[in-house]
Amino acid sequence: MASKQKIVSGMRPTGKLHLGHYLGVIENWVKLQDEFDSYFFVADWHALTTKYDSTDDLRQNVLDVVMDWLACGIDPEKSTIYVQSHIPEIAELNIYLGMITPQNWVERDPTLKDMAKILKTKEGANQQINFGLMGYPVLMSADIMSFNADCVPVGKDQVAHVEITRDIARRFNNIYPQKDGSGFFNEPTPKLTQIPVLYGLDGNKMGKSFNNDIKISDDEETTTKKVMKAITDPSRIRRDDLGHTDQCEVAFKYWQIFADAQTVETVKCECEQGTRGCADCKRQLAGVINEKFAPIREKRRYYESHLEEVEKIIENGSNKAKIEAQKVLAEVRKLVKMY
Ligand code: TRP
Repeated sequence: MASKQKIVSGMRPTGKLHLGHYLGVIENWVKLQDEFDSYFFVADWHALTTKYDSTDDLRQNVLDVVMDWLACGIDPEKSTIYVQSHIPEIAELNIYLGMITPQNWVERDPTLKDMAKILKTKEGANQQINFGLMGYPVLMSADIMSFNADCVPVGKDQVAHVEITRDIARRFNNIYPQKDGSGFFNEPTPKLTQIPVLYGLDGNKMGKSFNNDIKISDDEETTTKKVMKAITDPSRIRRDDLGHTDQCEVAFKYWQIFADAQTVETVKCECEQGTRGCADCKRQLAGVINEKFAPIREKRRYYESHLEEVEKIIENGSNKAKIEAQKVLAEVRKLVKMY
């Protein structure tokens, strides 16, 4: 039997994850873990590229991310779950890759340019761009290449980084060929999935910093309160005004994501005939969301009260990941003549 292809993907430890993360990333990982040899990690070094001066919550944020993954069904029996900084081999590979990466490759990385712009415009933020941030795509390449991954499941915003990884892998293969002339590293491909964009309650992209998100770990009451704030068809004032689902900027979109086609049709008809008020509609919608996330939330509460299990899962996963990365680094050292 051919061995499974390997995927590597990570998330920065931004704290408790929201429904956008669930729909956009985690749900996809849960499916992929059956098909691929899967490595999922918390990119705590990457967090330092911008948050180096506020690390007090970092450890808790790492745990929160892992608890959300576990609650959503990332299964430590199927996937290797680990923390980036527990694998020093990644840092070592980052050094070798940094040596062969032309400066202009990182300078033209569009995602990095955006990050730099945000840093510059953020009020009160430290304006300078550090060396570590410039190295973001190189470190990300080290994450991926430490496991010689075949594919990298990421969102659109990360594709530019993975393109640099392919370039770096190719360059490494050319500079340090194996004895038979072939390249050691795979050129990993980004694996994009068609994912619905989940808008925040205010109609902007859902994000922690916009204060418009619903967390996976929010309780039912909090979720309902938040959903009640979601914007709807702005032209509707009275309960029996005829609604326009195509102008209902958030609530109806959520229905389309979280309910079955028949329910969506009913909601649409009732709204457009003016028999469904926005408040009732959103209360019902909150119920649908709460029902969907009830088992996930229950599982999360279990892990919150069994932190030692979470720590153990991270430790086991990190040990396993380290063994794999050590194999890759042993080859890399030979090729670079570092022994
Ligand atoms: N940059 C990714 C993000 O912000 C996180 C990440 C770091 C990553 N290293 C990675 C994703 C390696 C995939 C592979 O979402």
